[in-house]
Amino acid sequence: MDANSIVFFVNGSKVEVSSTELETWATLLSYLRGKLRLTGSKNACGQGNCGACSVLLSEFDHKSQTIRHVTVNSCITPLFYVHGCAVTTVEGIGTSRDGLHPVQKSLVQMHGIQCGFCTPGMVVSLCCLLRNNPTPTKADVERAIEGNLCRCTGYRPILESMSPFAGCPMGAKCCKNKSNKLDTNDTEPEARPIDPTQDSIFPPQLMKWHLKDTLSISYGHTTWIVPCKLEQLRTVWTEHPTAQFVAGATAVGATTNHDGGPIIFISCHRVEELQAISVNDKKLEFGAAVTFTKMEDHIRKLEIEGAKPVVSAFLACIQSLASDQLRNVATIGGHLACRMDGLDMIPLLFALNATVHLMDHTGKRRDLTVEEYLSNEQTGKELILNIQVPLDNKVKFVGFYKTPRKRPVGSAGTTTALVLDTGGHFIAYLEGLSPKIIKLDVFSYLPETERTIQSLSLDKFDRILRKRLSEEKAETRDDLVNLSAGILQKFQAVVNETTPEAESPHSELPIHCRSDIIFDEVPDSQPQTDPVWRPLPQTTAEDLVSGQAMFIDDMPSYQNELHLCLVLGKRARAKLVHVDWSAVKACPGVVDWIDHTSLNGRNMWGIMAADEEIFASKEVVYWGQPIGAVVAESREQATHAAEKVRIDYEEMQPVLTIEDAVKLESFIEGAVVIERGDGTEGFLRSNQVVEGTIGTGAQEHLYLETNGAIGVPKREQHEIEMFVTHQAPTFIQKSIASCLGIPFNRVIVRHKRTGGAFGGKESQPVKICVPVALAAQRTGRPVRGILTREQDMAITGKRHPYQFQYKIGFSKDGVLQALEVKVYSNAGCSRDVSLEVLDCTLNFIEGCYAIPNVKIEGRLCKTNTVSNTSFRGFGIPQAYVAMETIIDHVAHVLKIGSKQIQEINFAKSGFVPFTKLPIQDETIVEAWNQCQRQANYLQKEADVIAFNEKHSYKKRGIAMMAIRFQMGYPVSLLNQSTALVHVYLDGSVSLSHGGCEIGQGLNMKIQQIASRALSVPLSKIHIAENSTNTVANATATVGSCTTDLVGAAVLNACGEITNRLQPFKEKKPNASWEELIIDAYLNRISLSVMAQGRPGDGGVYYYTYGAGCSTVEIDCLTGEHKVLSTDIVMDVGRSLNPGIDVGQIEGAFMQGYGMMAVEEWTLNDRGEVESKNPSRYRVPDVGNLPRDFNVTLLSDSPNKQAIVYSSKGIGEPPLLLATTVHKALRAAILSARKDRSLSAYVQLDTPVTPAKIRQACTIGCI
Ligand SMILES: Cc1cc2nc3c(=O)[nH]c(=O)nc-3n(C[C@H](O)[C@H](O)[C@H](O)COP(=O)(O)OP(=O)(O)OC[C@H]3O[C@@H](n4cnc5c(N)ncnc54)[C@H](O)[C@@H]3O)c2cc1C
Ligand code: FES
Ligand code: FES
Repeated sequence: MDANSIVFFVNGSKVEVSSTELETWATLLSYLRGKLRLTGSKNACGQGNCGACSVLLSEFDHKSQTIRHVTVNSCITPLFYVHGCAVTTVEGIGTSRDGLHPVQKSLVQMHGIQCGFCTPGMVVSLCCLLRNNPTPTKADVERAIEGNLCRCTGYRPILESMSPFAGCPMGAKCCKNKSNKLDTNDTEPEARPIDPTQDSIFPPQLMKWHLKDTLSISYGHTTWIVPCKLEQLRTVWTEHPTAQFVAGATAVGATTNHDGGPIIFISCHRVEELQAISVNDKKLEFGAAVTFTKMEDHIRKLEIEGAKPVVSAFLACIQSLASDQLRNVATIGGHLACRMDGLDMIPLLFALNATVHLMDHTGKRRDLTVEEYLSNEQTGKELILNIQVPLDNKVKFVGFYKTPRKRPVGSAGTTTALVLDTGGHFIAYLEGLSPKIIKLDVFSYLPETERTIQSLSLDKFDRILRKRLSEEKAETRDDLVNLSAGILQKFQAVVNETTPEAESPHSELPIHCRSDIIFDEVPDSQPQTDPVWRPLPQTTAEDLVSGQAMFIDDMPSYQNELHLCLVLGKRARAKLVHVDWSAVKACPGVVDWIDHTSLNGRNMWGIMAADEEIFASKEVVYWGQPIGAVVAESREQATHAAEKVRIDYEEMQPVLTIEDAVKLESFIEGAVVIERGDGTEGFLRSNQVVEGTIGTGAQEHLYLETNGAIGVPKREQHEIEMFVTHQAPTFIQKSIASCLGIPFNRVIVRHKRTGGAFGGKESQPVKICVPVALAAQRTGRPVRGILTREQDMAITGKRHPYQFQYKIGFSKDGVLQALEVKVYSNAGCSRDVSLEVLDCTLNFIEGCYAIPNVKIEGRLCKTNTVSNTSFRGFGIPQAYVAMETIIDHVAHVLKIGSKQIQEINFAKSGFVPFTKLPIQDETIVEAWNQCQRQANYLQKEADVIAFNEKHSYKKRGIAMMAIRFQMGYPVSLLNQSTALVHVYLDGSVSLSHGGCEIGQGLNMKIQQIASRALSVPLSKIHIAENSTNTVANATATVGSCTTDLVGAAVLNACGEITNRLQPFKEKKPNASWEELIIDAYLNRISLSVMAQGRPGDGGVYYYTYGAGCSTVEIDCLTGEHKVLSTDIVMDVGRSLNPGIDVGQIEGAFMQGYGMMAVEEWTLNDRGEVESKNPSRYRVPDVGNLPRDFNVTLLSDSPNKQAIVYSSKGIGEPPLLLATTVHKALRAAILSARKDRSLSAYVQLDTPVTPAKIRQACTIGCI
């Protein structure tokens, strides 16, 4: 008998879902969040790429009588998939009310939480690991969270949070397991087994339930059928011969068929016969529905001698596939049947000559090679039963290389599978160079005399490859061809053992990492109740770690709430000839549609100049620009209807790059020039002058919480209450008021927290919150508008790409004499804060150096790309890349170490840089010296030299640098903030301020400040939210100085409260705080104070300094790199909260590292963003963490110019230290070039991708 409802358990409770409910809740995530109101699991990408929606799926295996626990990404899990399973969400793991799980407690204690948006997903992944393996090694922990992105923490504290549970990486060979334990100085933390009774119990009903019946369930036009046996599958297939198969559903997802005819899916994931794995010494056979995880578990244990090369290649391939969450559900059959470009296992199956066993709907079976299967469209109608891989003992070596190692499907890079047989045949299958896989039989390209692969040069491989590609008429990026040639040579080198390097024939796995964190303890004399300078966890950490803390989209729906979806333009530059809304009006659930004609106020907005349209009226000026929006009863209806708008364009040639803009003189405003000394004179005095260029790419913020807003119209006086993800309350309020045509005082903008911002939520939220406010105003109903990740990435600005053209003059011993730089910034389509960002860039090009003669000229290029905006560092990271490139260039020309050039040019105390505030102290020197000691620089440098002498295909590089960052805005008017302090009659304190909690720990620091200022325990102080009706006219939370600004206001407000209580304290010196409050109240003394903080009358008020050192290793042939070590010493004065500050340092460094070497943002020729989601735009994951990552807060260096308790601002400065990686990569590349007698300097634009490294090692400048 068929089952017609989906039955599963969530956190121990049984759930039954019928067809009627499925229409709205097709995915597990939408059901959990929408129906069950379990909002701990977050939707950060909706495409399986980030792990924020991870849940634990548990199933009883009747054969082995065991429970299998895996993590899945619930956003791409169709609800039918969990039929018969137990689902555990973060809420089922632990709550602050019922008690946190030890993993959650540890994350809280170790500061593994910043904005907290990724945290529930992390908790689930870590708890799943512990359920399967109570004493995991560090490598296990890294692997468990490689599919969970965190944009804030930098991962180190998350890894550390598992150390109480971690076992030794040696496993059973651990010395602890030997009776004669030798090493008492074991660095591994004491393994503390997890108590399994803390985990929720697997529902006994599910243990008894043996799924035998076919599940069949329909919603709308869609039907899901889930058979359990092949025979059942055949029966339903006969009934529905056109049905589509599905297995892990990772490629198919929970398709909702709004339009066309009915779609029937038959899922193979439960079919017993398709789950089989069989192995003998002739072949490996995997059932089509075998998941990658099961495949890996099985083959890892294989002990067939002849299978070794095949097995190790499969393991390398599987481990390079996305994440555990994907591998746990994606199947080998689904992978093959996807027929998508960019899939990694296909080249390997080609190389291994795998065959596919197929069955048609009549039951007829046949075998085809993988190549035959993929080249025949007809096979798409057949069922894959299994895939067989011959264990041919003629195969001598198998190689698998994927570059970058975690390259998302469809992004730039290559996947190559290679085999060498005993007859000397060397065959490669290359993916990524052309739409189809290219087969290259190297052997057949060689003349008879050269048919040994021992002698082929890189050039030869390159030529052969290009010849083969031209036969295929494949147009390919030059750097990718070069990269592939390198991989071919790498394989040759490995099999012939021609390198001294210990090589694997596959992409290398990261080694696990270690770290040391050092900061000052508070003095013994400091009272225990005084929280300042202590590394205390955020007071909201328990709510964040348990998923109870609410972000905008977690807020419960209003009863009559509507949903808004933006309509985005699909041209980079075009006239809007006609916008036809007629099809939208006919869509179910649509209530309203809005465009530029709907606004009562202005259609223009902008943070510094109103020069961008809310809705494009006549022309679109970038791909993705909002043209209007649809408002409907449900999110799905709004999304569906928004796709129905028909837009006729008259396309124009877009200006996309800095080069285009310069050629066409497409600029915003005039040139900005800053100067010091006399350049002509300086160059004349120089012994040498060199010129060069360096470019930096765009960077996506990728905060985990996308932009969103809820607008609640009030019935009176045009009032509207707005809940918005943002970091600039006043600007949001002003933009809504001006576009709606109402005064500021009718708009209340409320904000509890934001799931990461990094500057990206300063101006950009306007693009969603104004349409939401407008829709709420027009309909008189609450409206919710949450951007999908793709919409967010399409319409929000990025870090500005730059190009620097420099000329530097210097003496023969490296003293810099004169500098001239032309700076071009890609502002995008409008001004936003680009001019201010450019100002910062210009002011910081000189870095930490004193150059007597300088002229810098900057231009803002206007292009048909999204308007670029504020991003952590605000133009200064680009400036440091430029200056350190110049330093390296000088060092290269003079053949002097880069560090020596740095040291002789450091600006000394008293020097007045372009930022005007003279350098006041020498902590930069202390940080520099301490960093050298901490990094053991001299030894490491010697090791690098020795390594490079021995190795030709692998090279190492080491680099140091120091940084100076300004605190306080150069424009004094921004240096202000307000705080409102209420003391209630029970002595509890409520604090409101103008700053936004965006994950940087602002509220915690403010609570610590208030606690000391009022001399009350931290627990008495609460910060509920910020809102424009409690604190008005707040400066945006940017520039790393919000703690200073708000802190100054809080100190003033608390000081005033203390003053008011003083008379009562004098009367009753021993009275408690609570008694004093009552006394004051009885005497009609107000216990509410609003105060302003206004430090920095003259603009910038102090500098934050730091120093860093990184060592990297590159593979010259595959272009891959590893950061072997990073040491950072930061001067944060006396840290208000070392736990938070270390987190800021690590997180900023990792984000900077992403900019330098990982994150590649690309547009196509028409101006459409190619990096449209995290699957096309890779940000650092846990595997990118420096393998040895040490952070020290400079000891005993209280800030003499401090605004708050000797501290310094910290959010942005450490990001600049990621330039050490850029420098170290260059050093390694230069070493490789030296071996090849290439003397030219390398430009090395960021991001430094594998293709660039590969190319730079052997070819001219890039
Ligand atoms: C977030 C994410 C990250 C990814 N990262 C990578 C990566 O790094 N490298 C990489 O190579 N790939 C990657 N992929 C792609 C992934 O490998 C495929 O989505 C997956 O292998 C498909 O398997 P599935 O079981 O989920 O297929 P499904 O989605 O269930 O089905 C895919 C196709 O196969 C058909 N099909 C399924 N089973 C059968 C069968 N037995 N017989 C006939 N047809 C069948 C379906 O009809 C459908 O057309 C990623 C995908 C996602 C979502
Ligand atoms: S939201 Fe599901 S993986 Fe990102
Ligand atoms: S704490 Fe991980 S994304 Fe913010």
